[in-house]
Amino acid sequence: MRPIWTVVFLAIALGASATARADAEAGKTTYAARGCIGCHGAGGVSTVTTYPSLKGRGAAFIRKNLTDYRSGALKNPVMNAMAAGLSDEEIRNLGDYIATLK
Ligand code: HEC
Repeated sequence: MRPIWTVVFLAIALGASATARADAEAGKTTYAARGCIGCHGAGGVSTVTTYPSLKGRGAAFIRKNLTDYRSGALKNPVMNAMAAGLSDEEIRNLGDYIATLK
């Protein structure tokens, strides 16, 4: 690889990981502010059996489910209401945050 491409590649890779970290931080704030934490628990570990834990779920799973609850493709009265007010950015950030919960 020519040196210039190495530099370009590193800049893109570092920039992307910094963005994902920032999104995860914003997602953590949204998780608390939107009340997700009340049902799905601190750190994504639910203490109520009827509310699924989210810890261990990947970003793609979280985004897909939230997008489908928002559109109504997935039906659950509670989650349809919760997802209705989420923006695309909040859904992306929530996915990044929950994916950090290992
Ligand atoms: C009042 C309780 C409650 C609140 C608040 C709530 N949820 Fe849920 N959530 C549920 C229930 C119940 C389900 C299971 C729905 C089902 O079985 O279809 C669920 C399902 C989910 C799922 C799919 C999980 C799976 O394993 O299928 C995701 C992702 C999710 N919630 C994210 C969120 C996020 C993000 C928020 C905050 C914006 C939130 N929830 C707020 C109760 C809640």
